[in-house]
Amino acid sequence: MTAQTITIRDNRTNREVDFPIMHGSEGPDVVDISSLYKELNLFTYDPGFRSTASCQSRITFIDGEEGVLLYRGYPIEELVEKCDHLEVCYLLLNGELPSKKQGLEFKKTVAKHTMMHEQLLKLYNGYRRDAHPMAIVLGVVGALSAFYHDSLDIRDPRHRLISAFRIIAKMPTIAAAAYKYYTGQPFMYPRNDLGYAENFLYMLFAVPCEEYKVSPTLARALDRIMILHADHEQNASTSTVRLAGSSQANPFGAISAGVGSLWGPAHGGANEAVLKMLHTIGSCDRIPEFIKRAKDPNDPFRLMGFGHRVYKNYDPRAKILRQTAHEVLNEVGYGNEPLLHIALELEEFALRDEYFIRKKLYPNVDFYSGLILSAMGIPVNMFTVIFAVSRCIGWITQWNEMISSDEGIGRPRQLYVGHQRRSVPDAEQRG
Ligand code: SDX
Repeated sequence: MTAQTITIRDNRTNREVDFPIMHGSEGPDVVDISSLYKELNLFTYDPGFRSTASCQSRITFIDGEEGVLLYRGYPIEELVEKCDHLEVCYLLLNGELPSKKQGLEFKKTVAKHTMMHEQLLKLYNGYRRDAHPMAIVLGVVGALSAFYHDSLDIRDPRHRLISAFRIIAKMPTIAAAAYKYYTGQPFMYPRNDLGYAENFLYMLFAVPCEEYKVSPTLARALDRIMILHADHEQNASTSTVRLAGSSQANPFGAISAGVGSLWGPAHGGANEAVLKMLHTIGSCDRIPEFIKRAKDPNDPFRLMGFGHRVYKNYDPRAKILRQTAHEVLNEVGYGNEPLLHIALELEEFALRDEYFIRKKLYPNVDFYSGLILSAMGIPVNMFTVIFAVSRCIGWITQWNEMISSDEGIGRPRQLYVGHQRRSVPDAEQRG
């Protein structure tokens, strides 16, 4: 069978070159244009990378048209029903679900790395008490690279594995400490007798002076939120981690860069923005006014929690979180939470509106996650931190795949539209 190719013909020179088409196991084929510059002295131009595959990956598959999300081939809907977050971390990292024995081993190893170095705790004091917790997490994650000089050889698979365990294990501790620092309460040390999500809620809400029992419903809901946010192909923050890591920087520096990217309201910061938006809307009767604003091209207002670069159907994670929102809100007695009613009404309005239908704008993962976290008593400024704790497994797994694939440093080019060469005028000529 002849190799499938795409022919590019430059009609300025009549030069024609064939470029090979590559087939994946799922999703669109790609055309390998890596020799384009050498063959035709041309770069491709794709700002925002809407039509660009940056790498080959075996980790996560998304079908945006159908609203499908697979981790290592398993549908997210089944994983969230049959697994816990650490089993999904094992799956993403190793490519297969763990046996019972492997799962216990993995959880034991994670538990052994949940504490932070005592010196690292001192770093928090350098921040203002009212610093956004994402600013603290950004700094502390990067600072991890100051503590593990014995295992930062990224070429050594053992060092990459221990770094993965450290990130998975310490992110909840780092995040909870950022919250405690913000509140002025003492840090709570991790408890290795608790489950991953349970321990995270314990470190967030327990205080040293009394017993604290984590609600199993809330622990399960948080575990589910973490599974749903664990990985998502080459999103902005994951692409940031891959690009930062491609210079052979250490994993903690690369992941700290991912934290910074996730913080943006167009990305992981959207869950915080959704809550602020629902508060601004304030009541169901003001929904039409805001839908109108969201559709007005001259109004910068957008419906936070709607739309997605890839999903042009309902985000499968939002569907699951919609159900979880009801469970949690009923459990904590917020079944009548006004914001939930506004959210449900807003969703109804948007899904019926011609503009949102035409532009295929559906609720995304951030639309409901904030409501659930808020009902769990987690403050709005911690929402994106929870997203970062959940996504760290995706970041470290994608980083590991990139390092193992030897793709070399990522170095995009540009279309230069600035000044052409000109001479520097003497000082007196500059007026
Ligand atoms: C996440 O990539 C990932 O996988 C991300 C993520 C992950 O798990 O890592 O899924 C997590 O980031 C989810 C997205 C969270 N962000 C938000 O909810 C913020 C609100 N959404 C938008 O900012 C926007 O939808 C984006 C940024 C998410 C996607 O933007 P795109 O793909 O660049 O689409 P676009 O901005 O070009 O919008 C297409 C059209 C535009 O209209 P036209 O220019 O064609 O006239 O749809 C409109 C937009 O104006 N539009 C919206 C809208 N989102 C897009 N109009 C109103 N409200 C919105 N929310």
